[in-house]
Amino acid sequence: MSQRKKIALVGAGNIGGELAALAARQELGDVWLFDIPEKLGVAQGKALDLEQNGAVLGYDAAIRGTANWDDLAGADVVIVTAGIPRKPGMSRDDLLGINLKIIRSVAQNLRTRCPDAFVIVVSNPLDAMVYAMKEVTGFPPERVVGMAGVLDSARLQLFLAQAVGVAVKDVRAMVLGGHGDTMVPVPSYCTINGIPVRQLLSADKLAAIFERTRNGGAEVVKLMGTSAYYAPAASAIQMARAFLHDEKRLIPCAAFLRGEYGYQDLYIGVPVILGGKGVEKVVEIALEPVEKQMLDNSAKAVRELIEASKRL
Ligand code: NAI
Ligand code: 2OP
Repeated sequence: MSQRKKIALVGAGNIGGELAALAARQELGDVWLFDIPEKLGVAQGKALDLEQNGAVLGYDAAIRGTANWDDLAGADVVIVTAGIPRKPGMSRDDLLGINLKIIRSVAQNLRTRCPDAFVIVVSNPLDAMVYAMKEVTGFPPERVVGMAGVLDSARLQLFLAQAVGVAVKDVRAMVLGGHGDTMVPVPSYCTINGIPVRQLLSADKLAAIFERTRNGGAEVVKLMGTSAYYAPAASAIQMARAFLHDEKRLIPCAAFLRGEYGYQDLYIGVPVILGGKGVEKVVEIALEPVEKQMLDNSAKAVRELIEASKRL
């Protein structure tokens, strides 16, 4: 391995493999793909395949598979997808008991090996998993975040673009709150090149699009029997890149709140500025009363999930 940045991917499954592919293609650094000993061959095989891919596509990155925690020592960024994904009919919350155990053991290992890393949690149920990661590692909250808002907002952007008949890159959309059935699409911040989307779509159409966004994960699970991985991986890489390149991106992430939006001791999706120090600022935006009420409702659901996980 070289002096390049070190990216540790904990979980070499569907999202882990795609994360490695994107990190390598974007030359963000050298990549370690970690999985449990039973999956060591998968981690090593994906790593080798992706290194060979560099010869075809012309990128430089060392990529290794491992089941040895010591190989992750000193990582700059850790992205955690360890756990099990949803199967048809399962909610994200059904995963709580199984994935909590996994995240706690991952966090214990990261605590000593990667004390300076920026940690992005992807495993579900997201808001409870990222809370557990911060609790067990004891890392400062600005260096422990959850990925959900980028993905949920991307889904909303796509559905809005399709409904209006415009390029998706012209659509800005924001989804806040927990990564679950109570997530909050925020119409007052959805625009098409600055034009409020409410000028272009009827209230009924928007309501249907918001509902499809809330079910965006389940729609993919129903089609292919496991959860999405291309867009989730791209979303987490956007966050990793913001940190590694000190980009100061203003994007929604599950961030630890200490009074912002009126919530204490809670991880929930809010707009943040992500840069070289991690979460450099939680940005408090004005919400319409109904939007704030939905955010309160979502915060309540997340808090219940966190309380349930504390009892496990
Ligand atoms: P996957 O099943 O393909 O990969 C998960 C990997 O984690 C497996 O290879 C498994 O062996 C590994 N693993 C299990 N225990 C481990 C441990 N203790 N240490 C290291 N690795 C361990 O699942 P996939 O599709 O990659 O999804 C991963 C997680 O991400 C799931 O919990 C899923 O629900 C979640 N997800 C979250 C999204 C979000 O927006 N936050 C979006 C999509 C999925
Ligand atoms: C998703 O939103 C299931 O959380 C996963 O695709």
